[in-house]
Amino acid sequence: MSLSNRHTLVLSASDVEAIVTEVGMDEIMDQLIGNMTEAFNNFDANKTIIPTRSGFNYTQPELGLIEWMPLHDVGDKMVVKMVGYHPNNPKKYDLPTIVSTISNYDTKTGHLKSLVDGVFLTALRTGSASAIASKLLAHPKSETLGLIGCGAQAITQLHALSRIFPLKKVIFYDIDEATCQSFKNRVAILELPVEYELQPIEQIVATADIICTATSIDIGEGPLFEKCPSKDHLHINAIGSDFPGKTELPIDFLKQSYVCPDFPDQAIKEGECQQLAAEDIGKDLFYCMKNVAQFKHLQKERTVFDSTGLPLEDLIVMDLFLAYAEKMKLGQLIEIETMSEDAKNPYHFVKKERTIDIKQSLKIKQLEYLERNET
Ligand SMILES: NC(=O)c1ccc[n+]([C@@H]2O[C@H](COP(=O)([O-])OP(=O)(O)OC[C@H]3O[C@@H](n4cnc5c(N)ncnc54)[C@H](O)[C@@H]3O)[C@@H](O)[C@H]2O)c1
Repeated sequence: MSLSNRHTLVLSASDVEAIVTEVGMDEIMDQLIGNMTEAFNNFDANKTIIPTRSGFNYTQPELGLIEWMPLHDVGDKMVVKMVGYHPNNPKKYDLPTIVSTISNYDTKTGHLKSLVDGVFLTALRTGSASAIASKLLAHPKSETLGLIGCGAQAITQLHALSRIFPLKKVIFYDIDEATCQSFKNRVAILELPVEYELQPIEQIVATADIICTATSIDIGEGPLFEKCPSKDHLHINAIGSDFPGKTELPIDFLKQSYVCPDFPDQAIKEGECQQLAAEDIGKDLFYCMKNVAQFKHLQKERTVFDSTGLPLEDLIVMDLFLAYAEKMKLGQLIEIETMSEDAKNPYHFVKKERTIDIKQSLKIKQLEYLERNET
């Protein structure tokens, strides 16, 4: 499907479903981890401009926030992910906590080239980023994975880590009993040869090789656990600390560990790094990846990947799905923007001779709308 400078390619939930069904979850995750590793290794801050995100947070009509996460690849594209965090969604509205779309703009013209689902893609890319950080920082023979918070992100954390580590046991905990009960059913699709066990947080911290914390803990309610024993090489992917005042890990654990943020400027405002002085914060993930030999010793030490989420991850996952869509001839081309045939006349489409046709087509559209909304 060739993209014109008038059409927007919409890659919707059903296209994502078709891609995952056709390509397979493991193949997609492996490809994504590969593409993201390459992009992180080649990251150049002069070529890819990533400002810290901004947004609105509120308590009415529901507790939540909507943020924009922009990226500009100089001379090439501009991508913005709009992402909402509404932790009451699963219980009250039967929707995911994280709801999102990714918009891809043409920097030659400002035209919206594509609009892609960001819900599934965010979960995938967050898992992939943890897998990459863990490959660098966690013990390579890690067999026991702890999951604290067993919602949507936990599933892709597990999936991504299972592609890198020889996992034998998954120990999990969520504050919500129903979420604990449904966990094994939700991960069954991954068909992992692992034993699953629900355990208290302290037990998870004491015995896991790697932990992913992905909770919707409230602002000011952290940490998830107090000072307690852990393996000398425990690596934690801290996923849920991504808002001012919202943290998951105890300061003692952070101080005992090498803390590697994904995006330092953002992590000091929103991540676990909020709790640390500058001298307690390690090098960022890109730096560590580019200087891998220098950081290899960390695999035997306590480490934390402070993941607040990067638009670069959104770009990589979006590009991957757009490439699959092109190959599979998927997606819908829509003229969202009113692109004038006469660039200097916004009213170009008001043509007297076409008024009757347009009124008739409006009636058809209204009937279609009513039909859609009645079913
Ligand atoms: N770093 C990133 O790039 C990134 C990306 C996506 C989401 N996130 C964050 O990850 C977190 C989880 O997102 P999700 O989509 O899985 O949400 P979710 O609502 O599906 O799951 C969150 C789970 O945390 C549980 N929880 C809340 N407080 C807890 C506590 N004190 N102890 C144990 N469990 C607790 C909830 O019961 C829920 O099941 C959110 O904070 C979100 O903002 C981060």
